[in-house]
Amino acid sequence: MKSKKFLIGLALVGGVAVGFSADVPTPDQVKQLKEMGILPSDVIVDEGNDYFHNLKGPNGKTCASCHGQDGAKLVGAYAKMPRYYKDIDKVADIDIRIKACMTKYMGFPKDKKFKKKFTKKYRVPLAGYVATLSNGMKINVTLDDPQEKEMYEFGKKLWYQRVGGRDLSCAICHEVYAGYRIRLQKLGAPVRDKLYAHWPAYRFSKDKLWTMEDRIRGCYKSYFLYLGKKWDKKKDWVKKPPYYMKELVALELFMKKAANGATVEVPGLLR
Ligand code: HEC
Ligand code: HEC
Repeated sequence: MKSKKFLIGLALVGGVAVGFSADVPTPDQVKQLKEMGILPSDVIVDEGNDYFHNLKGPNGKTCASCHGQDGAKLVGAYAKMPRYYKDIDKVADIDIRIKACMTKYMGFPKDKKFKKKFTKKYRVPLAGYVATLSNGMKINVTLDDPQEKEMYEFGKKLWYQRVGGRDLSCAICHEVYAGYRIRLQKLGAPVRDKLYAHWPAYRFSKDKLWTMEDRIRGCYKSYFLYLGKKWDKKKDWVKKPPYYMKELVALELFMKKAANGATVEVPGLLR
């Protein structure tokens, strides 16, 4: 809501024409907004900054207690994620890593209620904030650990695997048809064009900041559909995978590795 108000506010700022709410902001419009210092995505990142320093766990710790004022010890971390973490014995993306820190190190309960609250309230602002601490740095996913290698291979398999009522794969849309449009949306090539560099991204059409987990879940939900006449819920619908699932991390790792060498520039701004 906060950011919606910002958008309405924008239309009034000094008569500058930036009425893009229903369409793609042009690069010029984005530049204008940046110059005016008002981007809705910044509001969300600021919220994350606030949680990072002020949100206390039941044990009294904040993120900053361990990771430093202004996230000093997390500078560059996001550029290497997802990666394997010994303390939780898994390959984690930013969403999973932060959730683990909150339950393992801040005393938040490991139950459904907290998981829900985390997913809705804390996840995106905190992930957005932590990601900005790697801005200007090069993505560098190394796959040093065997579990990372395994996860990467799994992600690659999923990228090419055809599923759902339309027998589609990520690669069909994002490699074969990259550059074409679906309705109004241009099909990007996240692997070839290293698009991970601008994720998490703010989507004007949804008025939301999305992490890559949100993006992949959205693609599963929206595009692996059925085309016939009668809807068969079981057969024709590939469900939105639940958050924090291994499949999501695997696809993230696959795409992030492909983006090695690209400079992190987040939050990205998308249609
Ligand atoms: C009591 C200490 C503690 C607290 C509090 C804590 N963490 Fe962590 N965090 C850790 C440890 C330990 C690791 C694992 C470090 C490693 O293996 O490199 C970690 C790892 C991370 C990483 C990955 C760092 C990297 O180098 O890849 C991120 C990101 C992170 N934490 C974010 C957060 C956020 C956001 C919060 C607050 C919601 C938080 N942490 C709270 C101890 C903590
Ligand atoms: C039917 C085609 C289709 C399939 C299949 C599909 N996507 Fe997408 N994807 C899209 C469209 C369209 C967009 C742009 C959406 C928008 O702008 O609202 C998109 C956006 C993306 C983006 C963001 C690109 C950018 O501009 O930064 C990523 C990353 C992505 N998809 C990953 C995936 C992955 C991973 C899979 C497989 C699980 C997948 N997609 C399957 C159509 C598809």
